[in-house]
Amino acid sequence: MPPAIDVQNLRKTFYPRRGLARWLSASPISHDLNVLDGLSFQVQRGEIFGLLGPNGSGKSTLLRILATLMHPTGGEARVLGHDTVRDEARVRENVGLVLGDERSFYWRLTGRQNLRFFAALYGLRGRAGARRIEEVAALLFMGDYLDQRYDAYSTGMRQKLSLARGLLGGAAVLLLDEPTRALDPAASGNLLGAIQTLSRDAGATIMMVTHRVSEARAVCDRIGILSKGRLKLVSDLDAIGDGAGSAKRYTFHAAPDARRAEKSLDGFGFASAVQCDTTTLSLTIEEPAQNLAKVLDLLGRKGLRILHVESADAPAQRRVGTDRRQEVG
Ligand SMILES: Nc1ncnc2c1ncn2[C@@H]1O[C@H](COP(=O)(O)OP(=O)(O)OP(=O)(O)O)[C@@H](O)[C@H]1O
Ligand SMILES: [Mg+2]
Repeated sequence: MPPAIDVQNLRKTFYPRRGLARWLSASPISHDLNVLDGLSFQVQRGEIFGLLGPNGSGKSTLLRILATLMHPTGGEARVLGHDTVRDEARVRENVGLVLGDERSFYWRLTGRQNLRFFAALYGLRGRAGARRIEEVAALLFMGDYLDQRYDAYSTGMRQKLSLARGLLGGAAVLLLDEPTRALDPAASGNLLGAIQTLSRDAGATIMMVTHRVSEARAVCDRIGILSKGRLKLVSDLDAIGDGAGSAKRYTFHAAPDARRAEKSLDGFGFASAVQCDTTTLSLTIEEPAQNLAKVLDLLGRKGLRILHVESADAPAQRRVGTDRRQEVG
Protein backbone atom coordinates (compact mmCIF):
# COMPACT_ATOMS: atom_id res chain seq x y z
CA MET A 1 0.00 0.00 0.00
CA PRO A 2 1.47 3.41 -0.92
CA PRO A 3 2.09 5.86 1.95
CA ALA A 4 -0.50 8.57 2.66
CA ILE A 5 1.82 11.29 1.44
CA ASP A 6 4.87 10.70 -0.69
CA VAL A 7 6.94 13.70 -1.75
CA GLN A 8 9.96 13.32 -4.02
CA ASN A 9 12.37 16.14 -4.78
CA LEU A 10 9.53 18.67 -4.68
CA ARG A 11 10.37 22.18 -5.80
CA LYS A 12 8.35 25.38 -5.96
CA THR A 13 9.71 28.62 -7.33
CA PHE A 14 7.68 31.80 -7.52
CA TYR A 15 8.68 34.00 -10.44
CA PRO A 16 8.13 37.75 -10.57
CA ARG A 17 5.53 38.81 -13.11
CA ARG A 18 6.98 40.26 -16.27
CA GLY A 19 5.91 42.64 -19.02
CA LEU A 20 2.31 43.78 -19.06
CA ALA A 21 1.30 41.58 -16.12
CA ARG A 22 3.83 43.40 -14.00
CA TRP A 23 2.19 46.75 -14.81
CA LEU A 24 -1.35 45.49 -14.42
CA SER A 25 -0.85 44.07 -10.97
CA ALA A 26 1.80 44.85 -8.44
CA SER A 27 4.05 41.80 -8.47
CA PRO A 28 4.52 40.49 -4.96
CA ILE A 29 8.14 39.57 -5.62
CA SER A 30 10.95 41.12 -7.65
CA HIS A 31 13.20 38.07 -8.03
CA ASP A 32 12.83 34.29 -8.32
CA LEU A 33 11.88 32.82 -4.97
CA ASN A 34 12.82 29.18 -4.37
CA VAL A 35 10.36 28.39 -1.62
CA LEU A 36 10.62 24.59 -1.73
CA ASP A 37 14.02 23.42 -2.83
CA GLY A 38 13.93 19.66 -3.30
CA LEU A 39 11.84 18.17 -0.49
CA SER A 40 11.60 14.40 -0.12
CA PHE A 41 9.65 12.78 2.69
CA GLN A 42 6.78 10.41 3.40
CA VAL A 43 3.91 10.45 5.84
CA GLN A 44 2.47 7.04 6.72
CA ARG A 45 -1.25 6.26 6.93
CA GLY A 46 -2.78 7.18 10.26
CA GLU A 47 0.19 9.34 11.22
CA ILE A 48 -0.07 12.87 12.62
CA PHE A 49 2.75 14.84 11.09
CA GLY A 50 3.61 18.28 12.44
CA LEU A 51 5.07 20.92 10.14
CA LEU A 52 6.96 23.75 11.79
CA GLY A 53 9.09 26.55 10.39
CA PRO A 54 9.56 30.30 10.38
CA ASN A 55 7.07 32.63 8.67
CA GLY A 56 7.44 32.50 4.91
CA SER A 57 9.26 29.18 4.91
CA GLY A 58 6.71 27.56 2.59
CA LYS A 59 4.48 25.55 4.93
CA SER A 60 1.21 26.78 3.40
CA THR A 61 2.68 26.45 -0.08
CA LEU A 62 3.44 22.78 0.61
CA LEU A 63 -0.13 22.15 1.83
CA ARG A 64 -1.56 23.91 -1.24
CA ILE A 65 0.50 21.70 -3.54
CA LEU A 66 -0.62 18.55 -1.70
CA ALA A 67 -4.23 19.73 -2.01
CA THR A 68 -3.80 20.34 -5.79
CA LEU A 69 -4.46 24.09 -5.45
CA MET A 70 -1.02 24.80 -6.83
CA HIS A 71 1.32 22.96 -9.16
CA PRO A 72 4.91 22.33 -8.15
CA THR A 73 7.75 23.65 -10.30
CA GLY A 74 9.49 20.28 -10.18
CA GLY A 75 9.51 16.90 -8.51
CA GLU A 76 6.30 15.17 -7.51
CA ALA A 77 3.87 14.68 -4.69
CA ARG A 78 1.52 11.73 -4.27
CA VAL A 79 -1.42 11.36 -1.94
CA LEU A 80 -2.47 7.73 -1.33
CA GLY A 81 -0.53 6.89 -4.48
CA HIS A 82 -2.24 9.52 -6.68
CA ASP A 83 -0.13 12.19 -8.32
CA THR A 84 -1.24 15.72 -7.34
CA VAL A 85 -0.86 16.96 -10.92
CA ARG A 86 -1.83 13.99 -13.10
CA ASP A 87 -4.56 12.55 -10.85
CA GLU A 88 -5.88 15.82 -9.44
CA ALA A 89 -9.47 14.60 -9.12
CA ARG A 90 -8.53 11.44 -7.20
CA VAL A 91 -6.38 13.48 -4.83
CA ARG A 92 -9.21 15.94 -4.19
CA GLU A 93 -11.56 13.09 -3.29
CA ASN A 94 -9.20 12.03 -0.55
CA VAL A 95 -7.93 15.31 0.84
CA GLY A 96 -9.52 17.81 3.21
CA LEU A 97 -7.72 21.14 3.36
CA VAL A 98 -8.35 23.59 6.18
CA LEU A 99 -6.66 26.92 5.63
CA GLY A 100 -6.02 29.44 8.36
CA ASP A 101 -7.43 32.41 6.47
CA GLU A 102 -10.95 31.32 5.68
CA ARG A 103 -13.13 33.67 3.64
CA SER A 104 -15.61 31.44 1.92
CA PHE A 105 -18.46 31.21 4.43
CA TYR A 106 -21.78 33.00 4.05
CA TRP A 107 -21.95 35.67 6.69
CA ARG A 108 -25.74 35.85 6.87
CA LEU A 109 -26.20 32.11 7.34
CA THR A 110 -25.75 30.17 10.56
CA GLY A 111 -22.90 27.74 11.04
CA ARG A 112 -25.24 24.81 10.42
CA GLN A 113 -26.66 26.33 7.23
CA ASN A 114 -23.15 26.93 5.98
CA LEU A 115 -22.20 23.33 6.70
CA ARG A 116 -25.37 22.12 4.93
CA PHE A 117 -24.34 24.00 1.83
CA PHE A 118 -20.87 22.43 1.82
CA ALA A 119 -22.19 18.99 2.78
CA ALA A 120 -24.38 19.12 -0.33
CA LEU A 121 -21.27 19.83 -2.40
CA TYR A 122 -19.82 16.58 -1.04
CA GLY A 123 -23.01 14.81 -2.08
CA LEU A 124 -24.32 14.59 1.51
CA ARG A 125 -27.90 15.77 1.31
CA GLY A 126 -30.97 15.45 3.51
CA ARG A 127 -30.73 13.16 6.53
CA ALA A 128 -27.25 11.88 5.73
CA GLY A 129 -25.96 15.45 5.56
CA ALA A 130 -27.73 16.49 8.76
CA ARG A 131 -26.34 13.46 10.58
CA ARG A 132 -22.81 14.10 9.40
CA ILE A 133 -23.05 17.74 10.53
CA GLU A 134 -24.21 16.61 13.97
CA GLU A 135 -21.31 14.16 14.24
CA VAL A 136 -18.71 16.71 13.26
CA ALA A 137 -20.20 19.43 15.48
CA ALA A 138 -20.21 17.06 18.43
CA LEU A 139 -16.62 16.14 17.81
CA LEU A 140 -15.64 19.80 17.89
CA PHE A 141 -18.05 20.79 20.72
CA MET A 142 -19.86 23.31 18.53
CA GLY A 143 -23.35 22.58 19.79
CA ASP A 144 -23.82 25.94 21.53
CA TYR A 145 -23.31 28.13 18.53
CA LEU A 146 -23.98 25.97 15.51
CA ASP A 147 -27.27 27.82 15.00
CA GLN A 148 -25.88 31.30 15.42
CA ARG A 149 -25.21 33.44 12.40
CA TYR A 150 -21.67 33.29 11.08
CA ASP A 151 -21.20 37.05 11.28
CA ALA A 152 -21.61 36.81 15.06
CA TYR A 153 -18.89 34.14 15.38
CA SER A 154 -15.64 34.85 17.18
CA THR A 155 -12.36 34.09 15.40
CA GLY A 156 -12.03 30.78 17.21
CA MET A 157 -15.58 29.74 16.32
CA ARG A 158 -14.87 30.58 12.68
CA GLN A 159 -11.77 28.47 12.81
CA LYS A 160 -13.70 25.52 14.19
CA LEU A 161 -16.32 25.91 11.48
CA SER A 162 -13.51 25.72 8.89
CA LEU A 163 -12.26 22.56 10.50
CA ALA A 164 -15.81 21.17 10.64
CA ARG A 165 -16.15 21.80 6.93
CA GLY A 166 -12.83 20.04 6.29
CA LEU A 167 -14.14 17.02 8.21
CA LEU A 168 -17.53 16.82 6.47
CA GLY A 169 -16.30 14.83 3.51
CA GLY A 170 -14.65 12.24 5.76
CA ALA A 171 -11.34 12.77 3.94
CA ALA A 172 -8.65 10.18 4.57
CA VAL A 173 -5.91 12.82 4.52
CA LEU A 174 -6.39 16.11 6.34
CA LEU A 175 -4.14 19.08 5.75
CA LEU A 176 -4.52 21.63 8.52
CA ASP A 177 -2.89 25.04 8.33
CA GLU A 178 -2.46 26.41 11.86
CA PRO A 179 -5.75 24.94 13.10
CA THR A 180 -5.39 26.33 16.63
CA ARG A 181 -4.06 29.75 15.71
CA ALA A 182 -6.77 31.89 17.24
CA LEU A 183 -8.10 29.44 19.80
CA ASP A 184 -8.00 29.82 23.57
CA PRO A 185 -6.22 27.05 25.50
CA ALA A 186 -9.43 25.14 26.26
CA ALA A 187 -10.64 25.28 22.67
CA SER A 188 -7.24 24.31 21.25
CA GLY A 189 -7.07 21.48 23.76
CA ASN A 190 -10.34 19.98 22.59
CA LEU A 191 -9.53 20.58 18.95
CA LEU A 192 -6.21 18.76 19.37
CA GLY A 193 -8.12 15.99 21.12
CA ALA A 194 -10.44 15.81 18.11
CA ILE A 195 -7.45 15.59 15.78
CA GLN A 196 -6.04 12.68 17.79
CA THR A 197 -9.42 10.94 17.78
CA LEU A 198 -9.60 11.28 14.00
CA SER A 199 -6.25 9.65 13.57
CA ARG A 200 -6.79 6.95 16.19
CA ASP A 201 -10.42 6.00 15.55
CA ALA A 202 -11.02 7.00 11.95
CA GLY A 203 -7.50 6.16 10.73
CA ALA A 204 -7.12 9.61 9.16
CA THR A 205 -3.68 10.87 8.20
CA ILE A 206 -3.07 14.40 9.37
CA MET A 207 -0.49 16.94 8.35
CA MET A 208 -0.71 19.92 10.60
CA VAL A 209 1.11 23.25 10.42
CA THR A 210 1.72 24.92 13.75
CA HIS A 211 3.99 27.46 15.37
CA ARG A 212 3.41 26.00 18.81
CA VAL A 213 6.10 23.51 19.62
CA SER A 214 4.40 22.26 22.76
CA GLU A 215 1.31 21.46 20.72
CA ALA A 216 3.28 19.60 18.08
CA ARG A 217 4.99 17.57 20.77
CA ALA A 218 1.69 16.78 22.41
CA VAL A 219 -0.12 15.33 19.40
CA CYS A 220 2.28 14.64 16.54
CA ASP A 221 3.94 11.31 15.86
CA ARG A 222 6.66 13.04 13.88
CA ILE A 223 7.73 16.58 13.18
CA GLY A 224 9.46 18.26 10.26
CA ILE A 225 10.96 21.72 10.33
CA LEU A 226 10.81 23.60 7.04
CA SER A 227 13.52 26.18 6.65
CA LYS A 228 15.24 27.76 3.64
CA GLY A 229 13.47 25.42 1.25
CA ARG A 230 14.51 22.21 3.01
CA LEU A 231 12.72 19.92 5.41
CA LYS A 232 14.55 18.55 8.42
CA LEU A 233 12.82 15.59 9.97
CA VAL A 234 12.96 15.49 13.72
CA SER A 235 12.53 11.96 14.94
CA ASP A 236 13.11 12.67 18.61
CA LEU A 237 10.33 15.00 19.70
CA ASP A 238 12.08 15.75 22.96
CA ALA A 239 14.93 17.16 20.92
CA ILE A 240 12.93 20.30 20.29
CA GLY A 241 12.31 22.48 23.28
CA ASP A 242 9.13 23.83 24.74
CA GLY A 243 9.28 27.23 23.10
CA ALA A 244 9.56 30.68 24.58
CA GLY A 245 11.82 31.22 27.51
CA SER A 246 13.44 27.80 27.40
CA ALA A 247 17.02 26.78 26.77
CA LYS A 248 18.21 23.31 25.92
CA ARG A 249 21.50 21.56 25.64
CA TYR A 250 21.96 19.72 22.34
CA THR A 251 24.54 17.23 21.20
CA PHE A 252 24.68 16.61 17.46
CA HIS A 253 26.58 13.58 16.22
CA ALA A 254 27.61 14.58 12.74
CA ALA A 255 29.81 13.49 9.85
CA PRO A 256 32.24 14.00 8.27
CA ASP A 257 33.73 16.60 10.67
CA ALA A 258 31.55 18.46 13.17
CA ARG A 259 34.23 21.11 13.64
CA ARG A 260 33.27 22.62 10.28
CA ALA A 261 30.33 24.37 11.93
CA GLU A 262 32.08 25.55 15.07
CA LYS A 263 33.38 28.93 13.91
CA SER A 264 30.11 30.04 12.33
CA LEU A 265 28.27 29.50 15.61
CA ASP A 266 30.04 32.60 16.93
CA GLY A 267 27.52 34.66 14.97
CA PHE A 268 24.57 33.07 16.78
CA GLY A 269 23.78 35.06 19.90
CA PHE A 270 21.40 32.36 21.11
CA ALA A 271 24.09 29.67 21.19
CA SER A 272 26.50 29.27 24.09
CA ALA A 273 28.88 26.83 25.82
CA VAL A 274 29.88 25.29 22.49
CA GLN A 275 32.00 22.15 22.70
CA CYS A 276 33.19 20.43 19.58
CA ASP A 277 35.33 17.59 18.32
CA THR A 278 35.35 15.74 15.01
CA THR A 279 32.26 13.64 15.68
CA THR A 280 30.12 15.71 18.06
CA LEU A 281 29.00 19.26 18.55
CA SER A 282 27.38 20.23 21.86
CA LEU A 283 25.85 23.58 22.60
CA THR A 284 23.13 25.31 24.58
CA ILE A 285 20.39 26.89 22.46
CA GLU A 286 18.12 29.59 23.83
CA GLU A 287 14.50 29.37 22.68
CA PRO A 288 15.01 26.31 20.50
CA ALA A 289 11.54 26.66 18.99
CA GLN A 290 12.85 29.61 17.00
CA ASN A 291 16.54 28.86 16.86
CA LEU A 292 17.04 25.14 16.41
CA ALA A 293 16.16 25.42 12.71
CA LYS A 294 18.96 27.99 12.27
CA VAL A 295 21.51 25.60 13.74
CA LEU A 296 20.23 22.72 11.59
CA ASP A 297 20.50 25.03 8.59
CA LEU A 298 24.06 25.88 9.41
CA LEU A 299 25.02 22.21 9.76
CA GLY A 300 23.44 21.54 6.37
CA ARG A 301 25.26 24.44 4.75
CA LYS A 302 28.55 23.12 6.09
CA GLY A 303 27.87 19.78 4.41
CA LEU A 304 27.36 17.90 7.66
CA ARG A 305 25.12 14.87 7.93
CA ILE A 306 23.39 14.62 11.29
CA LEU A 307 23.53 11.05 12.53
CA HIS A 308 21.87 11.49 15.87
CA VAL A 309 20.70 14.26 18.18
CA GLU A 310 20.45 14.23 21.96
CA SER A 311 18.98 16.92 24.11
CA ALA A 312 18.63 17.74 27.78
CA ASP A 313 17.44 20.68 29.84
CA ALA A 314 20.19 23.24 29.91
CA PRO A 315 21.92 23.63 33.28
CA ALA A 316 20.86 26.99 34.73
CA GLN A 317 24.39 28.40 34.92
CA ARG A 318 24.89 27.77 31.23
CA ARG A 319 22.04 29.98 30.16
CA VAL A 320 23.23 33.09 28.38
CA GLY A 321 22.13 36.49 29.63
CA THR A 322 19.71 38.58 27.63
CA ASP A 323 22.57 40.92 26.70
CA ARG A 324 24.03 38.20 24.48
CA ARG A 325 20.77 37.54 22.73
CA GLN A 326 20.49 38.78 19.20
CA GLU A 327 18.50 37.80 16.20
CA VAL A 328 20.49 36.13 13.46
CA GLY A 329 18.78 35.58 10.10
N1 LIG B 1 1.36 33.28 -5.08
C1 LIG B 1 2.56 33.70 -4.65
N2 LIG B 1 3.33 34.50 -5.40
C2 LIG B 1 4.55 34.90 -4.98
N3 LIG B 1 5.10 34.55 -3.81
C3 LIG B 1 4.38 33.76 -3.00
C4 LIG B 1 3.07 33.29 -3.36
N4 LIG B 1 2.60 32.50 -2.36
C5 LIG B 1 3.56 32.49 -1.42
N5 LIG B 1 4.61 33.25 -1.80
C6 LIG B 1 5.85 33.45 -1.03
O1 LIG B 1 6.37 32.18 -0.70
C7 LIG B 1 6.93 32.19 0.60
C8 LIG B 1 6.30 31.10 1.43
O2 LIG B 1 4.96 31.42 1.72
P1 LIG B 1 4.03 30.49 2.62
O3 LIG B 1 2.72 31.15 2.72
O4 LIG B 1 4.07 29.12 2.06
O5 LIG B 1 4.81 30.54 4.00
P2 LIG B 1 4.41 29.92 5.42
O6 LIG B 1 5.55 29.04 5.84
O7 LIG B 1 3.05 29.33 5.37
O8 LIG B 1 4.44 31.21 6.36
P3 LIG B 1 3.53 31.60 7.65
O9 LIG B 1 4.13 30.92 8.84
O10 LIG B 1 3.71 33.08 7.73
O11 LIG B 1 2.11 31.20 7.36
C9 LIG B 1 6.71 33.60 1.15
O12 LIG B 1 7.90 34.34 0.96
C10 LIG B 1 5.60 34.14 0.29
O13 LIG B 1 5.72 35.53 0.13
MG1 LIG C 1 1.26 29.79 6.26
